[in-house]
Amino acid sequence: MLCLGIESSCDDFAMALVRDEGIIAENIASQSNIHAVFGGVVPELASREHLRSVPSLFDELIDQAGVVPQDIDLVAVTRGPGLLGSLLVGLGFAKGLVLSIGSEFIGVNHLIAHLLAPGLDEDLEFPALGLLISGGHTQIYLMDSGYEYRLLGRTLDDAVGEAFDKTAKLLNLPYPGGQYIDALALMAEADPELFPLPYLDNQNLNFSFSGLKAAVARYIQKNPHFSLQEFAFEPDVEKLAANRPEIARVCASFNSCVALTLYKKVARALKGCPQVRSLIVAGGVAANSMIRDMMSKLSSDFSVRLTLPRQSLCMDNGSMVAYSGMLYAKAGYFHHLGVEAVPRGKVIPWDYCQRSP
Ligand code: KG4
Ligand code: ZN
Repeated sequence: MLCLGIESSCDDFAMALVRDEGIIAENIASQSNIHAVFGGVVPELASREHLRSVPSLFDELIDQAGVVPQDIDLVAVTRGPGLLGSLLVGLGFAKGLVLSIGSEFIGVNHLIAHLLAPGLDEDLEFPALGLLISGGHTQIYLMDSGYEYRLLGRTLDDAVGEAFDKTAKLLNLPYPGGQYIDALALMAEADPELFPLPYLDNQNLNFSFSGLKAAVARYIQKNPHFSLQEFAFEPDVEKLAANRPEIARVCASFNSCVALTLYKKVARALKGCPQVRSLIVAGGVAANSMIRDMMSKLSSDFSVRLTLPRQSLCMDNGSMVAYSGMLYAKAGYFHHLGVEAVPRGKVIPWDYCQRSP
């Protein structure tokens, strides 16, 4: 089966061609430079840029793979959750393509696609505990398979990636700032007294990062010189850590707070789910060095296998959408072309058409 995966839920437009054996070709149009200066994604700019990049992105992908559009058996597209305008561009293109080539079609849940992404490199082991940490979501799932899962916990306010990006903005680092905080944090010692571990004094599996964000904001308000005077699109983190060690220390303290909080909540979830055989950690923030180390400690503490996507599969990408779509299609799930986009904050309906696999 040759599957085209299309991802356009936020500010990146990504496409990939995947076969049973693995990834054939990938292409991505990143808008980081457009949104960097705003400290977050501007939805209208994102969808307009998507519309501009689709045709050339698709042509290049097809050329790179040495196939023609009619070779595609299945078109899988992210149907949500995400920015509505951005999703509509991907869905509109996918539906038009399906009408012209007559392939099968499936709308993919972006969150589940993130969690299944490491399946492109290794067999996933179920039942699994899935920790999804991205720019828009922080969730814990109990997964019996790729299509049988239950939400155990979620953030009550900011997503973990949002907390990274807002902290970066307070320091006057470019958007998305997670990667810079990660790099700076590696070059300093964390001060455990600087910020509180957020929302642990309870028995549930939910998260809340707004208190931590507010603590960082208060700290920087009291110490305004911590915010960089000059904005750089691509800051030299080594130079920065050497010249401004106090900023690197804020990053290390914040990063360690987040990593420890994730450790404690996931440990609580693992205690409650002794049947779990593996821990899958996915989403853009799964690229974070301190969090990867903490998750690896967790997996040895609880003797469960740790499954982490390689760095390139942590961020939004077309391959995870194609892979997830293929898995569902092989299990007999498809969509009619009437499938709708689902914006962030709304639950993705289970509205597949089912055939015998
Ligand atoms: O999954 P993703 O590409 O997009 C969403 O679906 O949201 O995640 C993007 C998020 C951003 O908030 C970005 O700052 C964060 O992932 N991120 C990181 C790192 N790399 C990306 N956060 C912490 N450490 C990193 N190394
Ligand atoms: Zn994502």
